Amino acid sequence: MNKKVSFNFKTLIEKDRKEHTVKRFSGTFLEYLEILKKTPEIGELAHSRAYNMITKPGFRVENQENSLRLRKLRIREVVRKFNFFENDFFGMDKVINQIVRYFKSASLGGEESRQVLYLVGPVGAGKSSLMERLKSGLEATKPIHVIDGCPMHEEPLHLIPNHLREEFSQVLGISIEGDLCPICRFRLKDEFKGHYENFPVKTINFSIRSRCGIGVVPPVDPNNQDTSVLIGSEDISKLDIYAEDDPRVLSLNGAFNAGNRGLVEFIEVFKNETEYLHAMITATQEKLIPSPGRNSMIYFDGVILAHSNEAEWEKFKADHTNEAILDRIVKVEVPYVLELDEEVKIYKKIIGKSRFDAHMAPHTIEIASMFSILTRLQPTQKCDLLTKLKLYNGEEVIEKGYNHKIDVEELRENAVREGMKGISTRFIMKSIDNAISEGEHNCINPIAVREAMINHVKEMHLPDDIRKRYLGFLQDTLHKEYLSMLEKEITKAFVHSYQEQAESLFMNYLDHAEAYVNRRKVTDVNTKEELEPDEKLLRSIEEQIGITASAADGFRQDVTSYMFSLTRRNEKIHYKSYAPLKEAIEKKLMASVRDLSRIVTKTKTRDKEQNEKYDVMVQTMIDQNGYCPFCCETVLKYAGNNLWKD
Ligand SMILES: Nc1ncnc2c1ncn2[C@@H]1O[C@H](COP(=O)(O)OP(=O)(O)OP(=O)(O)O)[C@@H](O)[C@H]1O
Ligand SMILES: [Mg+2]
Repeated sequence: MNKKVSFNFKTLIEKDRKEHTVKRFSGTFLEYLEILKKTPEIGELAHSRAYNMITKPGFRVENQENSLRLRKLRIREVVRKFNFFENDFFGMDKVINQIVRYFKSASLGGEESRQVLYLVGPVGAGKSSLMERLKSGLEATKPIHVIDGCPMHEEPLHLIPNHLREEFSQVLGISIEGDLCPICRFRLKDEFKGHYENFPVKTINFSIRSRCGIGVVPPVDPNNQDTSVLIGSEDISKLDIYAEDDPRVLSLNGAFNAGNRGLVEFIEVFKNETEYLHAMITATQEKLIPSPGRNSMIYFDGVILAHSNEAEWEKFKADHTNEAILDRIVKVEVPYVLELDEEVKIYKKIIGKSRFDAHMAPHTIEIASMFSILTRLQPTQKCDLLTKLKLYNGEEVIEKGYNHKIDVEELRENAVREGMKGISTRFIMKSIDNAISEGEHNCINPIAVREAMINHVKEMHLPDDIRKRYLGFLQDTLHKEYLSMLEKEITKAFVHSYQEQAESLFMNYLDHAEAYVNRRKVTDVNTKEELEPDEKLLRSIEEQIGITASAADGFRQDVTSYMFSLTRRNEKIHYKSYAPLKEAIEKKLMASVRDLSRIVTKTKTRDKEQNEKYDVMVQTMIDQNGYCPFCCETVLKYAGNNLWKD
């Protein structure tokens, strides 16, 4: 039956309500104590709850031994991958590990539990998204027990009088800290005549929308910095009825009140006046917040999170009067992603979550991501930026017949500030969006996105030298890189049984190179004739990657001993085994079909046979590479115009 027809809203709602009432609790403080005795973890403090929330779903440990990626990137640190952040955050392991480390030591009651966790990084690097994840995580945690009627949903254990705390603490096996808020204190005396065991306790869920355990402080108008946003205010209408120091006049509805037990987030934190920041610091350091009017300070237990961009941080840091605040901040830098494969995942995620339904030609996101990363990389003497990008992505880069011998680790060490500047994720998303709206066939391709990025850069407010640099990446570096990707792809689609041809070329090369190195002869498979190694064949392959005649001997030796070492380890050898040789073989294959490709791309002069070949190639690109008929035609035309021009 159709699922939609059989769906019954009433059953769903009732089922949900039943499940929720089971988990819910409503009773007296005495009953709460019994529950607490059985499950002491429900009495945990905010940092500890947050830490458990992150780690409970599990994590896996990656190191060079079990991760090819870490080996390739020569990352020596052990990386923990937390399921809590999985699928939403990419290339952020270091940041996430630092955040978890903060929560861990804070959960143990260390100094960090009395410090602000502060994220700093360029726009669009994912700071807000990390905060959102923590908040939505809290919303999904189990309900917490609170004093019923308390505006700060405070921990019921605050009801226990001081002289009994030690004993309670021992029986329950948990530490008890914090005092009643002025409103609950008043009710205890006034309503319950000190019989705290009868005080009502209930459970609530964390909720962003109802400001339950989650408080958010947006940057405030500097001319109107009223601390009521943080700590609530006095209800003026009630001042007629009650005395000024009567807790009944208090409206404890500030961000700290709301965020008690959970977290308080300060957006663009340093845009706020120092007075605000002092309240923030007292709340972390002393775990106390001021009460509006004349009441005493109020106990606060929550994680304080803040974020801003680097310019604000620098400005703030430069002011010496802020030293006390700086000392109470755990700073975590959130740089842009510099690893191509991870950057690509970001856009796939964003696009996957949107209503975007256009077809996307292969390499579209890749080219866009290459641009964003190129703008973020710091130039080095050791290589050009595209090479750096590839090395940072764990790719093997061939230069003059050899793997590039540059040490990635050293590259990284020489550019510690890398990733704090450049093009943001939002720029890339906007360019992709523009390319879609400009496109005709509900299909976008790298050519259109590159065009959109070029226009976008031209419109941006940028210093001239930077604009020139960015346009250089788009109009030169990426133009060439994309064409070289296309060339490989089209050749593969064009050459029937590409793989076999490559393998046979490889075996041939290896036979002759081996014979050459060992000064032996090659036996012809068919005629069994003993032949001299075919140097012409060897050179025709080596030349593809610029190996000079004088370097050829060395190259042949390297190839043979490399293959020998593989065979000795019982590893299968194939044309991709040795990256430089793979590159040479692919280039050789490309060169051999170049003439053909030219004919194929010339629509008007094709004969019947050529037309058939063309159609097979298009079909291969559609079936195997993920093109649609429109983008396939577009890229072939583009390749024809740029690659195989006479
Ligand atoms: N490393 C990353 N992994 C996954 N998504 C990311 C990453 N970096 C950025 N994003 C995505 O990019 C978009 C912009 O990020 P976000 O709004 O969190 O940035 P921000 O650092 O808060 O920027 P701003 O300083 O402008 O507020 C979001 O959709 C976010 O999910
Ligand atoms: Mg943000």
